[in-house]
Amino acid sequence: MKPTKAEPLLSVRELTTTYPGRRRAAPVRAVDGVSFDIAAGETLGLVGESGCGKSTTGRTIVRLLEPSAGSVRYDGRDIGHLSQRELKPLRKDLQMVFQDPHSSLNPRQTVARIISDPLLVQGSSAADARRRAAELMELVGLIPEHIDRYPHEFSGGQAQRIGIARALATSPRLVVADEPVSALDVSVQAQIVNLMERLQRELGLAYLFIAHDLSVVKRVCDRVAVMYLGRIVEIGDKERVYAAPAHPYTRALLSAVPLPDPVAERTRERITLLGDPPSPAAPPPGCTFHPRCPKAQAVCRTEAPLLRIDAPGGTRRVACHFPESL
Ligand SMILES: Nc1ncnc2c1ncn2[C@@H]1O[C@H](COP(=O)(O)OP(=O)(O)OP(=O)(O)O)[C@@H](O)[C@H]1O
Ligand code: SF4
Ligand SMILES: [Mg+2]
Repeated sequence: MKPTKAEPLLSVRELTTTYPGRRRAAPVRAVDGVSFDIAAGETLGLVGESGCGKSTTGRTIVRLLEPSAGSVRYDGRDIGHLSQRELKPLRKDLQMVFQDPHSSLNPRQTVARIISDPLLVQGSSAADARRRAAELMELVGLIPEHIDRYPHEFSGGQAQRIGIARALATSPRLVVADEPVSALDVSVQAQIVNLMERLQRELGLAYLFIAHDLSVVKRVCDRVAVMYLGRIVEIGDKERVYAAPAHPYTRALLSAVPLPDPVAERTRERITLLGDPPSPAAPPPGCTFHPRCPKAQAVCRTEAPLLRIDAPGGTRRVACHFPESL
């Protein structure tokens, strides 16, 4: 069944992913009741500080991890608990690009082997897979004649192009890109972002684009979700979230982004958050952001805010008892 407007390509509901605690330590609920949709061809940005559960969310969606609760519906089917054998035909549709290009490529395999592997797993012949690998190299701006080289013979940006080619080998419909440009120089970041945007236009890909850098997310995504300690605290259309952030945490993250206009940059309000995020193994009661929130009041310490639509008829959702803007 092809997705329609009523049926998004990906629909995540109350997704929870728990890591077992080491020795006697409590389990870590790294993702805690996360819900969002991604339509075919759309990009959802996922942002938040280190350790808030972005990668765990991405890895659970492509089923490198199994959720401990909630559902992951892909193309109308719950894939959250499928066995590896049942997942195999879906693997071609759901792919992942990793943060550190070099460490995500096997240094002992040639580019031909790296890009061909997903095709061989799906049953392609060796000759077909090699031909397709050369085509994919060209598609992502690499020289196909370099097909028998090893990853260390490529720069960081080129290695990320190999990672993208590998992800595209099976013509996926959804790519989870986990900090795909964070490890790259700024000039190379722009090239890879351009490449990903072009591929999206040409191939109709949907992206879950995970990043620390809010300016990169602003450029590439249609909607943005902000995570804090395993939960989404704000989600909505990019324009609305960036122009009028409603959650104090989103405001703080955005206040750290330099503005291109020098006058606006000089008067930019900067909100400094106190301390580091608490451990997801022992989250604070009530609103988990309350120990760091400049707007916290008594109710915040005892009652967890629900993720609610922030204005009648709107689509943006915010989890805060006292949202900033309506
Ligand atoms: N394999 C693991 N075992 C136990 N805990 C883990 C494991 N992987 C991650 N965690 C914990 O789960 C939480 C979420 O981690 P995750 O890697 O998803 O965060 P992240 O938002 O991707 O962070 P970063 O921006 O640093 O990549 C963190 O507290 C982390 O310490
Ligand atoms: S619920 Fe309270 S503590 Fe949490 S973000 Fe809103 S104002 Fe801050
Ligand atoms: Mg991560």
